[in-house]
Amino acid sequence: MFLMRRPAVSGRLPKLMDSDQQAALEQAWALLADGAAKRRHAMHTPVLAGVTAEGLPDQRIMVLREAAADLALLRLHTDARSPKVTQLDRRPVHVLAYDAGAAIQLRIEGKGRIERAGRRVEAIWAEATCFARRCYLAEAAPGTVRVTPGSGLPPEVEGHQPNEEQLVPARANFAILLVEVSAIDWLHLANIGHRRCRFERNGTDWSASWLQP
Ligand SMILES: Cc1cc2nc3c(=O)[nH]c(=O)nc-3n(C[C@H](O)[C@H](O)[C@H](O)COP(=O)(O)O)c2cc1C
Repeated sequence: MFLMRRPAVSGRLPKLMDSDQQAALEQAWALLADGAAKRRHAMHTPVLAGVTAEGLPDQRIMVLREAAADLALLRLHTDARSPKVTQLDRRPVHVLAYDAGAAIQLRIEGKGRIERAGRRVEAIWAEATCFARRCYLAEAAPGTVRVTPGSGLPPEVEGHQPNEEQLVPARANFAILLVEVSAIDWLHLANIGHRRCRFERNGTDWSASWLQP
């Protein structure tokens, strides 16, 4: 856990809603936390959407690394040179996740925040495996036009696990993306009747409204 929790709430959501809404919001955050923790979980790889400088929608799958309910924060990792960094940093971000087993769709609104340096980023970098850190050794930025197909990794680490010394230049290309969640549209599909609820975060509290699914 790299997102610092405030002891007063310690992972519990404040109660401002009816009990069904409270349960739905807790379930949404539990699914996201499970998604972050389990590689095979349906919510491990949500879709993150933003808007390009030309005003066009743009989306991509990313690995969810952490979900902190009490802070309403999601954490993901990216190449600091990637186009999504300028697209999502301090700008609106939309996250879409669906768990078919739970029959729950989450449509999450928030604001992105890119961190390239600082104690949190250093700690996350230090904990990542050598294979995970290897991605950030690519010589060109993601999206750069290539003459031939390829990973862009230096030949000495292509297909091999790099050592700590080889990984030194990769650190400058690593960044984390935090999504400050401001609203969640929760949809539950069920034969007895679908349910949909919109949650909005006001300061540290949440409000909820049932919606026609
Ligand atoms: C299963 C899966 C997981 C991915 N995880 C990440 C990720 O955690 N971070 C990331 O930057 N890109 C990830 N990608 C690649 C992105 O979807 C995208 O292709 C790449 O980051 C370039 O996006 P951009 O041009 O919007 O920057 C993943 C792709 C797939 C298919």
